[in-house]
Amino acid sequence: MASSRGEFGSRFGFVMAASGSAVGLGNIWGFPTQAATNGGAAFLLVYLFLAFVLAYPILMAELVIGRHAHANAVSALRQISPTRLTGNIGALGGMAGFVIASLILTFYAIVAGWMMAFCLASVADLIGLTDFSRWLMTFGWWRNVVFMLAFMALTMAIITAGVRAGIEQWSQRLMPTLLIMLAALVGYVLTQEGASDGLKVYLMPDFRSALSPQLIIAALGSAFFSLSLGVGTMLIYGSYLKDDENLPIVGGLVTLVDVSIAVLAGFLVLPAMYVALHNGVEIFTETGALISEDTLIFTVLPELFATMGIAGVLGSITLFFLMSIAALTSAISMLEVPVAYAIEEHGTKRRNAVLIIGSLIALGSVVILLHFESLFGLVIAITTRYSQPLLGLMMCVYAGWVWRRDSLLRELRKNDPSAAEGLFWKVWPWYVKFVCPVIILAIFSHATWG
Ligand code: PHE
Repeated sequence: MASSRGEFGSRFGFVMAASGSAVGLGNIWGFPTQAATNGGAAFLLVYLFLAFVLAYPILMAELVIGRHAHANAVSALRQISPTRLTGNIGALGGMAGFVIASLILTFYAIVAGWMMAFCLASVADLIGLTDFSRWLMTFGWWRNVVFMLAFMALTMAIITAGVRAGIEQWSQRLMPTLLIMLAALVGYVLTQEGASDGLKVYLMPDFRSALSPQLIIAALGSAFFSLSLGVGTMLIYGSYLKDDENLPIVGGLVTLVDVSIAVLAGFLVLPAMYVALHNGVEIFTETGALISEDTLIFTVLPELFATMGIAGVLGSITLFFLMSIAALTSAISMLEVPVAYAIEEHGTKRRNAVLIIGSLIALGSVVILLHFESLFGLVIAITTRYSQPLLGLMMCVYAGWVWRRDSLLRELRKNDPSAAEGLFWKVWPWYVKFVCPVIILAIFSHATWG
């Protein structure tokens, strides 16, 4: 079966695809907004710590399991289970993963659609179509539906092309573009008056809030969401890796790219807020809280760009184009999870699987749009705050407790014959077995009952 499966062609291709999955709205929208509301550098430090100390080991668990099984999460977790019972529980967890990945995509496609609409709105502004531009920037049923569908159509087109011609090719094109645009925007914003105040907030930690439970929980969710953990995305990407690829290194590279882009996006968003303040845009309420926490990017930044004339229009096009690209490379990784399952477990043709599953997800987005007030936040909370950490916990349990150690070592030896003597083997198995579950459970129970 392995021969008929897709496979990444090169290390670069894999790192671009997996970091394309990781780098998304979570990095460029979620992380900077949370850093801005949670003590700036303090949040940054906690986030960096959690990314390397907690998220990286779990990412490795998914990659190793995936590459070992060369299959989707349902069959992979079954394969590494020594008993029927653990096999069935693993398969159920894998199914929960693809349901959650699909649910994440239902709200993600809506937000990504807004990004596309905002990008187009700036283009419309540029050519004088002000009414059209206003329509594009106003929250409304038709705008939301049309752009959600357009985004889903793009995602489905890439996934239909498969692993190498779709995921890998497009990630290799889009990720470097994203990096260049982000760097250019950061460079521009940092030269503006007021930017240094934002830099101060971003770089001077407020240690009183660094240790508050609320901040740690926010950073945990952020780290899990940002590295696309728990739902089987990284597992399925790992399953398309060649056996001779050095897993700890590629996993490390993906984590590094993900974290660096989040940090870089912070250098854009926080200074931009203070440039906006300097230009007369209100960003704080009287109590000193940020005005529009979650909608920061959709309100403060457009207002900022509006104060900058033509440079602002170009800045706005660049920013929202960048966000659309980041969202696209993540969305394809979400859709690949249920699609790979349908292909491998039910023998569905790729094109049909994409069509059916993609349409169902779009339908889910329509339902959310119909009941936006009650469903949007709820779906985000259920999927990212609760499901992702819990499913991540399951990955640790399967890598650390269920999978036999000799089989695990054999897997690591495929690309490194001396793996048994290496640092990774000395630390990681013990670490995912004990440390990761304890940290997740502690933070999670605190979030739920504390
Ligand atoms: N990592 C993506 C982001 O930061 C979101 C994501 C979550 C992607 C789960 C795939 C699976 O935006």
